[in-house]
Amino acid sequence: MKVKVHVHAFEERNSLIVWLNGRPVLVAKEGDKFYGMDAVCAHMGCAILSEVNGTTAVCPAHGAKYDITNGKMIEKPMIKPEIQCEQEEIRLPLKTHSVKVGPDGLLDIE
Ligand code: FES
Repeated sequence: MKVKVHVHAFEERNSLIVWLNGRPVLVAKEGDKFYGMDAVCAHMGCAILSEVNGTTAVCPAHGAKYDITNGKMIEKPMIKPEIQCEQEEIRLPLKTHSVKVGPDGLLDIE
């Protein structure tokens, strides 16, 4: 699905959130590659992953870390116990999305 985000949006940032089929997706650029991953943290299911360092996304709530190349949690949250969220069940790994740049410079996310 083509989203109205131009590749130039990444000239001064390395990540942003787009909405794909009603769900937030974290899109990040590392080097010359783009990555996409569902942005809702699997811990409580209520925090949006928005900070990215290299290929690691960090949850702002309790610090869980995810590898954006495969959606796996690589560092667990810093609190216990796991608390159920009212939202739909979220499973690990988080769903990843392919991100390509179209000839018009717009991102194409699957
Ligand atoms: S909600 Fe993300 S680590 Fe707790």
